[in-house]
Amino acid sequence: MLLDRRREREVLDRLLEAVRGGRSRVLVLRGEPGVGKSALLEYVVEQASGCRVARAGGVQSEMELAFAGLQQLCAPMLDRLERLPPPQRDALGTAFGLTTGVAPDRFLVGLAVLGLLSEVADERPLVCLVDDAQWLDRASLQALEFVARRLFADSVGLVFAVRQSGAEQALAGLPELVVEGLGDGDARALLASVIRWPLDERVRDRIIAETRGNPLALLELPRGLAPAELAGGFGLPVQPLPARIEDSFQRRLAPLPAETRRLLLVAAAEPVGEPALVWGAAARLGIGVEAGDAAESEGLFELGARVRFRHPLVRSAIYRAASGQDRRDAHRALAEVTDPRLDPDRRAWHLAQATSGPDEAVADELERSAGRAQARGGLAAAAAFLERSVELTLEPVRRAERALAAARAQAQAGAFDAALRLLATAEAGPLDELRRAQADLLRGQIAFAVNRGSDAPPLLLAAAKRLESLDVGLTRETYLEALSAAMYAGRFVAGGGLRDAAEAARAGPPASQPPPAPDLLLDGLALLITEGYAASAPTLKRALRAFSSESISRKEGLRWLWLACPTA
Ligand SMILES: Nc1ncnc2c1ncn2[C@@H]1O[C@H](COP(=O)(O)OP(=O)(O)O)[C@@H](O)[C@H]1O
Ligand SMILES: [Mg+2]
Repeated sequence: MLLDRRREREVLDRLLEAVRGGRSRVLVLRGEPGVGKSALLEYVVEQASGCRVARAGGVQSEMELAFAGLQQLCAPMLDRLERLPPPQRDALGTAFGLTTGVAPDRFLVGLAVLGLLSEVADERPLVCLVDDAQWLDRASLQALEFVARRLFADSVGLVFAVRQSGAEQALAGLPELVVEGLGDGDARALLASVIRWPLDERVRDRIIAETRGNPLALLELPRGLAPAELAGGFGLPVQPLPARIEDSFQRRLAPLPAETRRLLLVAAAEPVGEPALVWGAAARLGIGVEAGDAAESEGLFELGARVRFRHPLVRSAIYRAASGQDRRDAHRALAEVTDPRLDPDRRAWHLAQATSGPDEAVADELERSAGRAQARGGLAAAAAFLERSVELTLEPVRRAERALAAARAQAQAGAFDAALRLLATAEAGPLDELRRAQADLLRGQIAFAVNRGSDAPPLLLAAAKRLESLDVGLTRETYLEALSAAMYAGRFVAGGGLRDAAEAARAGPPASQPPPAPDLLLDGLALLITEGYAASAPTLKRALRAFSSESISRKEGLRWLWLACPTA
């Protein structure tokens, strides 16, 4: 029974009305754990008569599997894939690992999802619910964010529930509804439903104030406390509310039989919630089927068609309370029952979590998973696999190489702090000349991406010089990056960095023949800066012609076209 929530229900009712009326709506429900976001999503499901409902949810886990969340949402609609324009169809097929093809870019995957949803909504209004969006894999979150910002005139509703988080907010800028605690009257009613003896007025008020009307806190915190213990409320609120609720779950878990707790740990370690996997892994650990009963009767957990915890805080309570060894055992058992052909990446994650020290075989598997993630366009997942693989690698050369690859993947995924950390690891190790130059290049690229300021050009220039004897193509590309960074840094007139870059580029290795468009652009720009307009005009014109010709890939074109245009 949903108490109160008049305002929230009204907003959601209106959203459904709009969607039924052929319009699209996006809403982000934001609030602390236990405040009732999932309950409001359930409300939407109940009210969504006449609509088709699609659901997905994030699960707290180390695992970062490319497009896992999106796949969950779209799986029931994939029969419409055929109706999408081929580039979109292929992009989504590749992202979901159904087909192999060129790694799709974010834009194309987002467009494809948009297309798929409106295709489905053509038939019947569609409501998509995404719970715990803070735990979606990054590729899925990006795609859904893309969709949310571009939904326009279709019968599609997209409702997210997300934990409020301080600094970096997922889904920022979308229409949102902050979910707060229950009002006093409803909070009292909820509290009365779990406390069966008359409560002193002052104590009750204090409990309500301490929980700020958070329904989960109201339901959970008084449990197992005797009247005398409650007399002063819950005591000093030294901890934030979610941590207190989690502690209270931990206290309820502690007296359960050891075997039950081990079963719960296995379930907590498996984000997909597949009962067959949980039972299979439990059997390997010698845990019998009756072990679940104690937890089910406590209402903490359900092992039916899917594994479900009372609340995600139960899951984190279990996982956190377990010893490192127990966690590793659980992950190892899960790895053993995960099919290496059907689900190699989840298996690799479990193996990685089961390993405490360096392990080349597991590091190797993670590297392969990273390759697969990359091939599907899952940059963040590739980076996460590689990063873990670095941690498990002992041999210094391989370790440094993997760290460099991980740094590159993190940078491509836009996680520059992580990239710089890994880059430092790579540079501390023995790298050959080419990789050292690549590390320099990456450092310059990150500097450029982060602030477009004056630190990038010299870094890129140094990288280009180092590359000269190693890789001509990459050298010239790097010179072009150095030039564009110098232009961005605002030195076009003042010279300095820009002139240095242009002169170095001219002194560097010449282009292959016939020169590809970016090479023409480099030569043209270097001439423009060193010799002036007249000397450079023919080359720059050739460059522009080459860019507008068909033969250049879209990515390559987009990458440099902004530079070419103002020079024309
Ligand atoms: N308005 C409400 N009235 C009564 N119980 C509620 C209400 N909202 C949430 N609850 C209960 O509180 C608990 C936590 O709610 P939940 O929706 O899971 O929180 P969240 O998703 O924000 O973490 C659930 O057991 C739910 O049934
Ligand atoms: Mg929830």
